[in-house]
Amino acid sequence: MPDIQLTKGDIVLSRRNLLTTGAAAVGAGALTGTFTSPAAEAAAKPTPSTAAGSIPKFAVAMPVPEVLRPVRRSWNTDYYRMTMRTVSTEIVPGHQTEVLTYDGSFPGPTIMAESGRRVVVEQTNALDTPVSVHLHGASVPTSSDGYPMNVIEPGGTRTYTYPNVQPNANLWMHDHAHMEEAEHVYRGMSSMVVLSDAAERKLGLPSGEYDVPLVIRDVDLDDNAGIVFTMDDSVNRTTILVNGKPWPYFTVEARKYRFRVLNSTNLRWLAPFLADASSYTMVGSDGGLLEAPYSTPAVVLSPGERADIVIDFSTYAPGTSVVLQNLAGTGDPAEIMRFDVVAAKTEDHSRVPAALRTLPALPTPTVQRSVVLTMDEDGRPNPMGYINGKTFDMNRIDTTVRFGDTEVWTVSNGNVTTPHNFHMHLVQYRVLERNGKPVDPSEAGLKDVVALLPGEEVKIQMTFDSYRGLYLYHCHLMDHSAMGMMAQMEIV
Ligand code: C2O
Ligand code: CU
Repeated sequence: MPDIQLTKGDIVLSRRNLLTTGAAAVGAGALTGTFTSPAAEAAAKPTPSTAAGSIPKFAVAMPVPEVLRPVRRSWNTDYYRMTMRTVSTEIVPGHQTEVLTYDGSFPGPTIMAESGRRVVVEQTNALDTPVSVHLHGASVPTSSDGYPMNVIEPGGTRTYTYPNVQPNANLWMHDHAHMEEAEHVYRGMSSMVVLSDAAERKLGLPSGEYDVPLVIRDVDLDDNAGIVFTMDDSVNRTTILVNGKPWPYFTVEARKYRFRVLNSTNLRWLAPFLADASSYTMVGSDGGLLEAPYSTPAVVLSPGERADIVIDFSTYAPGTSVVLQNLAGTGDPAEIMRFDVVAAKTEDHSRVPAALRTLPALPTPTVQRSVVLTMDEDGRPNPMGYINGKTFDMNRIDTTVRFGDTEVWTVSNGNVTTPHNFHMHLVQYRVLERNGKPVDPSEAGLKDVVALLPGEEVKIQMTFDSYRGLYLYHCHLMDHSAMGMMAQMEIV
């Protein structure tokens, strides 16, 4: 078997059982570590509960999240209604687990949106906690952006308007209530929104039942299969769920499939990898299609990042199976799901063209800023997160941006052991460089989350030409943003 080495910055991720050099081992250690603070690191090895420990792998079929139907359609708008409510769902076979949901499903239903058509969602909060709905990756007016203080109180309703004046992208609806976002998302407030357009459809990528979201996350379950949320616990969340089910299997035909992979974990890195080391084709990232497809054995995804990938199962004999592993995990989280291959029903006419899209030219930037992400990592009891030394304060505007400007932000992780990443609301940016070097093809498209391992630095460029108002930027390890690693900009 070939030795697979993937690089993201200076980190070398090597196939666990094929570590050959010391450098690779160190790099893989950094990536397969539990990404936690030294205190938590010292405290514990995971102790799976009896419920979690009893979950057989690849025993439950992976569901495909249902597609939400609009309640009404006009010539330019699709109207939806969703109720946020608590439901019980079966995660561990034979047990019921209480989860928070968008409209009763875990994860929430998928909304299929179309570039140029507005989506209007009337959200009713039937939970007993205030919520705020954010559409991650979307360019929306600040009134519909899910600002942490613009909450929907229990029993309340609020209507969000999404203009969809941007090309195809895999967007993510998730909670953003002030300091509660980490726990709410972890308990289930997460739904995918697939924004498509005519240019994308013309490409002939696998579509319909061969175009499937893979919403991957982890969870810590107690002995009764209840969800345990402990702030910043990256040790015990060892049960991997895909579309809400633990280590499921998915029956695929021997043909090409498109998978829209979302890392919806709060803290965990994922690197999906087919166990036989065969490559798949990455066609899109956070902000939609890449310019060109990229063939790779694994894509590294930090929390909130998306990868649109095409896997060709025609190379597998019907009746065989292949496990999707997680190269960035050890123990239980080193496995994600299994694909069981059956004969194709019909001929596969889908294709992956050599050119997928042309990204707009990069305007000349006129403003440079720098952002340093840090978190207390000295083991103190209530660690806080900081951006440029400050914890989030909704009464403070951290950055004022002139409408229309193109800026370059140098973002760095000032910690020694804690990984972070960087998300901006409103804009999709381009990653110009990582640690002074050109970026990997997986990061060359439009991005809204960029990973930053300890000591790393990236330069990102964005143009603020869509809306004015207040928007957030933060670490998307959601426990970290809830611990204060968040700031706001005003576009004026
Ligand atoms: Cu996906 Cu402010 O978040
Ligand atoms: Cu962080």
